[in-house]
Amino acid sequence: MKLIIAGVLAALCIATSAFGTHEHDKVVCYWNATSFEREGPAKFQIDDIRPAFSLCTHIVYASARINAETQEVVSGNPHLDTGAGYAFYRLINQMKRIPDGPKVLISIGGNDDPYEETHKYLTLTETNEARAKFVNSIERLLNDYEFDGVDLAWQFPEVKVKKNRGAIGSFFHGVKNLFGYGKFKDTKEVEHRDGFTILVRDLKNRLRTRGKLLTLTVLPHVNSSVYYDVRSLIPNLDAVHLFAFDQKTPTRNPKEADYPAPIYGSFGRVADDNVDASVRYWLEHGAPGPKVVVGIPAFARTWKLTADSQISGVPPIDVDGPGLEGPHTQTPGLLSYTEVCTRLTESAVGRLRRVNDPSKKYGSYGYQAYNEQTGADGIWVGFEDPDTAGNKATYAKSKGLGGVAVYDLSLDDFRGICSGDKFPIVRGAKLKL
Ligand SMILES: *[C@@H]1O[C@H](CO)[C@@H](O)[C@H](O)[C@H]1NC(C)=O
Ligand SMILES: *[C@@H]1O[C@H](CO)[C@@H](O)[C@H](O)[C@H]1NC(C)=O
Repeated sequence: MKLIIAGVLAALCIATSAFGTHEHDKVVCYWNATSFEREGPAKFQIDDIRPAFSLCTHIVYASARINAETQEVVSGNPHLDTGAGYAFYRLINQMKRIPDGPKVLISIGGNDDPYEETHKYLTLTETNEARAKFVNSIERLLNDYEFDGVDLAWQFPEVKVKKNRGAIGSFFHGVKNLFGYGKFKDTKEVEHRDGFTILVRDLKNRLRTRGKLLTLTVLPHVNSSVYYDVRSLIPNLDAVHLFAFDQKTPTRNPKEADYPAPIYGSFGRVADDNVDASVRYWLEHGAPGPKVVVGIPAFARTWKLTADSQISGVPPIDVDGPGLEGPHTQTPGLLSYTEVCTRLTESAVGRLRRVNDPSKKYGSYGYQAYNEQTGADGIWVGFEDPDTAGNKATYAKSKGLGGVAVYDLSLDDFRGICSGDKFPIVRGAKLKL
């Protein structure tokens, strides 16, 4: 009996030393390393990450890729990741070695694959041979670099767009280029789900012996009930980061803007398009609370307001595709938090009229209406701020979840331009855990 208790205690100690020190207050910070390639103030250099070390319990390096021919993990950006000049893989794992420094995981996958290659996420799950090649290649990566674990951001096919009740029809021109899998219908869903479960099991077995973590990033619009067998997966995962944001995007919903990442559903909205529905799905299917982590976008989604848009600004609102790109991030339909906050002040050029969220359920938005005099288009911006990020952390805490995961550090205000504090979104969330 004593032996059994001692054994159980030992097992518990091993389990808690890996992740348990942050059972409910994980602050997982994604770092899109390619943000180094932006110009001007949006350029995020490796030293910019240092102030995040006191805020983030985990840094997730995004992203490594999969080679579609060999099924092996490869660098997403060899120049930056492993190149002589930058060597981010090596540097980040040196920088983290400070007292209470963060754990650093390498994420594999994400949303940046060229269209022709997306099917590799499915084929890799189909055979023992492919799975073994992948797992072996990760083992080699971990021999070379001291990552504390691996995050799988598996790009399974996305669900079709469901429109809010009463929304006008949209034309899905260019669908093929915009969504990785285009009109593809997966006829082997069950095989892919089961194959992924085996992949996770085999990978975790390999990582466990090295004391490394394994996490899963559930990307937006991947239907968990199709691809994730929660009960079989969860014993082999240290955490699941639910990217329950981008519920509405200018690409998927070019004609109607709405809250991109609400905590709860509301009248007329698609019932499952919110944080709470995603969280409940995982909990109800057997995931323990501390393993479920709520994703928070640091970035805003934007749409173009025209003469045909309602002047009230209240969502859902008729729009015409993505809003104008930001001066520094240069991506239509997206603004960093810095690009948003600098447009919220009285005197700002292109000032946004700000609407807060006293309900704490849906998120903030801002807008600049179409200009009748000049005919200039307006913009509608659904964004996260330190308060709404805090609301998500409060939600996570009240449900006994594991914490929050912010995407990503380069799109938060890493220079402290908004309020003087660096990483205000991460900070706002952390304060409430
Ligand atoms: C990472 O940043 C680069 C540079 O701005 C961008 O092209 C890429 O789409 C970003 N990736 C993700 C997944 O956010
Ligand atoms: C997800 O898949 C299930 C079937 O497993 C289906 O009932 C549900 O409607 C799907 N959700 C979405 C958002 O398509």
